[in-house]
Amino acid sequence: MKTVFSGIQPTGKVHLGNFLGAIKNWVHLSNVENKNFFCVVDLHSITTHPDPMELKSNIEQTLKLLIAAGINLDNSIIYAQSSVPQHAYLSWILSSFCQVGELQRMTQYKEKADSLGSHAGIFTYPVLMASDILIHKANEVPVGDDQTQHLELTRNIAERFNNKYGDVFPLPEKSSGKSGARLMSLKHPDSKMSKSSDDINGTIYFDDDKDTIMKKFKSSVTDSDDIIQYNLSEKKGISNLIDIYASINGMSHKEVEKTFMDSRYGEFKMAVGECVAEYLNPINLKFIELEKENISEIVKINLQEAQASAELTIQEVNNILGL
Ligand code: TYM
Repeated sequence: MKTVFSGIQPTGKVHLGNFLGAIKNWVHLSNVENKNFFCVVDLHSITTHPDPMELKSNIEQTLKLLIAAGINLDNSIIYAQSSVPQHAYLSWILSSFCQVGELQRMTQYKEKADSLGSHAGIFTYPVLMASDILIHKANEVPVGDDQTQHLELTRNIAERFNNKYGDVFPLPEKSSGKSGARLMSLKHPDSKMSKSSDDINGTIYFDDDKDTIMKKFKSSVTDSDDIIQYNLSEKKGISNLIDIYASINGMSHKEVEKTFMDSRYGEFKMAVGECVAEYLNPINLKFIELEKENISEIVKINLQEAQASAELTIQEVNNILGL
């Protein structure tokens, strides 16, 4: 049986990129015979110094959103990272198997160091991420394309540890869908769709109502030649819309082009907006229902399983290292 691990930060509002790049694939994997761990990585969020009350509420909201999205809890464990301190413990151990130069080369570190000001938390963030993945000995990590470099680093760290101490960690593989792995802003198709609030019209949030979604797609930035064709180098805006439509409808980019070959951009934008609203609406309704519910029993059971799995790895690693 394969072990799957992935994580999402509980800062900012979950957006369509998070869904199509990650959560949609988690839902799929949770319905296959895997052992799945989906983690709200709250320790990672500390790097942005969030408001404590807001963080607390976001952690619970994100757990509820994972349930609302349809993750099958019969063979998946959802939990908050800080409730399993073994993640941080392993991170310290693995930091001795990671080169400073590797961390300096991380694109996300360079971007974040520019905007947040440099501190050691942003710098060592990828080591904690490696420990998230390796603590449960995951084989597969379903993430968006922006995490590729972090996954490569995780494999390097695991390999270095294994070379010294034997086959302890599997080398985890990244998995992504054929489409949706890198959604771009609807307003600035050169930049990734992201949680940052300065681009609210370029980002579709999970709780946007249908009117808002349609307005955002209507005003999305495209080129002016009115040909619905996937071409990432010259037609970034329309390619992004094709990618979104393809991901939600399980189609290839070519199939989307063919379906809309006689349509104009205006019509296509509305079709994309419609399918996004149809995809997000049931998730949002379920989330609203769950907001009123107390999920502490679900959280408790999941947490016990996550702690037990993490503790097994820590015991093994401690023995191997002579601790
Ligand atoms: P985070 O919280 O930024 O994003 C969660 C997931 O959403 C994906 N994603 C996107 N996919 C497509 N298009 C986009 N515009 C887009 N924006 C975000 C991300 O690729 C991710 O899969 N470092 C991670 C969290 C993390 C993690 C881990 C992930 C910590 N430890 C271990 C996997 C395994 C992050 O900040 O994701």
